[in-house]
Amino acid sequence: MSTIILGIESSCDETAAAICKDGQIINNIVTTQLIHEKYGGVVPELASRAHQKNIIPVIDDALKSVDLSMKDLSAIAYTQGPGLLGALLVGSTFAKTAAMTLNIPVIPVNHMQAHILAHFIDEPRPDFPFLCLTVSGGHTQIVKVKSHIDMEIIGQTKDDAVGEAFDKCAKLLGVGYPGGPKIDQLAQSGDPERFSFPHSDIPDLDYSFSGIKTAFMYFLRDQKKNNENFIEENLNDLAASLQHTLIQMLMKKLKKASKLERIRNIAIAGGVSANSGLRNEIQSLSKKEGWKTFIPKFEYCTDNAAMIAISGHYHFLNGKVGSLRDSPLPRLAFSD
Ligand code: KG4
Ligand code: ZN
Repeated sequence: MSTIILGIESSCDETAAAICKDGQIINNIVTTQLIHEKYGGVVPELASRAHQKNIIPVIDDALKSVDLSMKDLSAIAYTQGPGLLGALLVGSTFAKTAAMTLNIPVIPVNHMQAHILAHFIDEPRPDFPFLCLTVSGGHTQIVKVKSHIDMEIIGQTKDDAVGEAFDKCAKLLGVGYPGGPKIDQLAQSGDPERFSFPHSDIPDLDYSFSGIKTAFMYFLRDQKKNNENFIEENLNDLAASLQHTLIQMLMKKLKKASKLERIRNIAIAGGVSANSGLRNEIQSLSKKEGWKTFIPKFEYCTDNAAMIAISGHYHFLNGKVGSLRDSPLPRLAFSD
């Protein structure tokens, strides 16, 4: 008999459902909440309400598109955290209620681990151990991945995430939300060496991205004193130079981690791994550093439920299922 796992993602502004059948993702439905655009960022209360509205139709579509019904499910995996509490509660409450009715297991999944396990949806799948630079709107981590379920954070940001730096600097440039993809697009025809921005360097394998955001803000303010059209006239070069600086900051610690851990299987994951500059840089480092690199497909970089369903599959295989009594609060620790 097949093992069929429904994955549900509702941690931020995507309501998503996907089905994993015997380790293969057979569909992946994502509804992006566009309502946040006009506010320049995700509004938590609106996100919860939109999840509430979308969740049943999204799950219904996911099942119907592959001719399945709830009765066919072996287990339900859901994002337990980290994320926005009200948003997470929508997915976890649906998962637990359905699992209770169907008398099947629920599988709580850590969202950041799931970004990493997206590498196991398709070939080429990385060999263990590998290092994963996990970069999203809320996190920036270097993770040593020892197995599908055994992972250790060996470096992380002490303040802002790199995605947040992209988004906040994009806001300063007035290019809208979400800023990361906009900066990426503008950077394609800009000069990455034109401007340089001072940025902090902190010890070990950790990161700090709050300084560059402030430096960028003061740089723009000072330039605008001499030329009020400075941003408009230099938009592409500003985007390219900012992106270049952020990527160099990311790579510095990743190279250090690879040397310290003597691991050359290197992956990237999370929303910022969709960045074309980062993808190119990782590819070119694979030649220079002798790395075997793993870059996720675009559809699996930003939030999706395929990564939750595949995580559910590996948790299920390893007997790591949850309980209906699990806390509805998000998991804060990575390796719970
Ligand atoms: O993983 P994700 O979809 O959600 C979280 O778990 O946070 O990541 C969202 C982040 C946002 O900061 C967004 O601006 C950034 O990923 N992002 C990008 C690109 N696409 C998404 N950043 C830079 N370049 C991109 N192409
Ligand atoms: Zn994410």
